[in-house]
Amino acid sequence: MAWSPLLPFLLGLLLQVPAVARASPLDTLLRGAAPCKAGYLCPQVPLGKSPPAPPVNVSLYYEALCGGCRSFLVRELFPTWLMVYGILNVTLVPYGNAKEQNVSGKWEFTCQHGEEECKFNKVEACLLDQLEWSAAFLTIVCLEEIDDMESNLKPCLQIYAPKESPDAIMECAMGDRGTQLLHMNAQLTDALQPPHEYVPWVLVNGKPLKDMSQLLPLVCQLYQGEKPDGCPFQASSHRDVCFK
Ligand SMILES: *[C@@H]1O[C@H](CO)[C@@H](O)[C@H](O)[C@H]1NC(C)=O
Ligand SMILES: *[C@@H]1O[C@H](CO)[C@@H](O)[C@H](O)[C@H]1NC(C)=O
Ligand SMILES: *[C@@H]1O[C@H](CO)[C@@H](O)[C@H](O)[C@H]1NC(C)=O
Repeated sequence: MAWSPLLPFLLGLLLQVPAVARASPLDTLLRGAAPCKAGYLCPQVPLGKSPPAPPVNVSLYYEALCGGCRSFLVRELFPTWLMVYGILNVTLVPYGNAKEQNVSGKWEFTCQHGEEECKFNKVEACLLDQLEWSAAFLTIVCLEEIDDMESNLKPCLQIYAPKESPDAIMECAMGDRGTQLLHMNAQLTDALQPPHEYVPWVLVNGKPLKDMSQLLPLVCQLYQGEKPDGCPFQASSHRDVCFK
């Protein structure tokens, strides 16, 4: 795919992340608890003294097999999350441009990229339902990064959630729980105001993000607390050049 030049770099990052995921899940971090032991990948937020400012909400409405969604997740959202780990509250809603229909009392889905996409929307909804949040997020990034998601479920889980069985996730995805979770995502997606025009559809503090490349600067701008080191320098012509 188009972003392949970045893959080695991102894969390198992915392999370094499990320590972060285990040492200080975002949820714990937001409560200001667990010390991070992952060196430079630790959240660059001042913890302790004053209560931290509320995190910036970022919601991604997407579908599992759409190229633009995969690219946004892997190239924008994931690096942004790594850069400013502690100031983001990310919500993933896999469903996107799918449609649902009540067929004699049972929800049936039609997905833009076929059956396979419905299956992976459910797999990702099940990961989000059954794993601690950052383990689910990292597993989803791992899946979306590489083609042939089905055979990658096992190795991705082995890295980020070694105790979780791929069979249990597939059982959830293919069963009633998967249907129920996707139906909930359908309701969240259909309730969007304004409605989504395309996917990936990204809300930052509730407002649609139009320029996908601006996620990091926007999040940094909106965050009311002390800016983490991962934030780009304020736009200043003096800093954009290197004098000889
Ligand atoms: C994070 O987002 C979820 C919705 O996805 C919301 O329920 C929760 O309150 C948010 N947390 C914070 C700290 O804003
Ligand atoms: C789905 O359809 C069944 C009958 O076909 C009906 O009894 C049920 O109320 C419907 N459910 C919803 C949520 O529309
Ligand atoms: C994030 O979302 C939660 C839940 O909807 C809301 O309570 C909170 O105020 C939002 N945070 C910001 C910074 O808008």
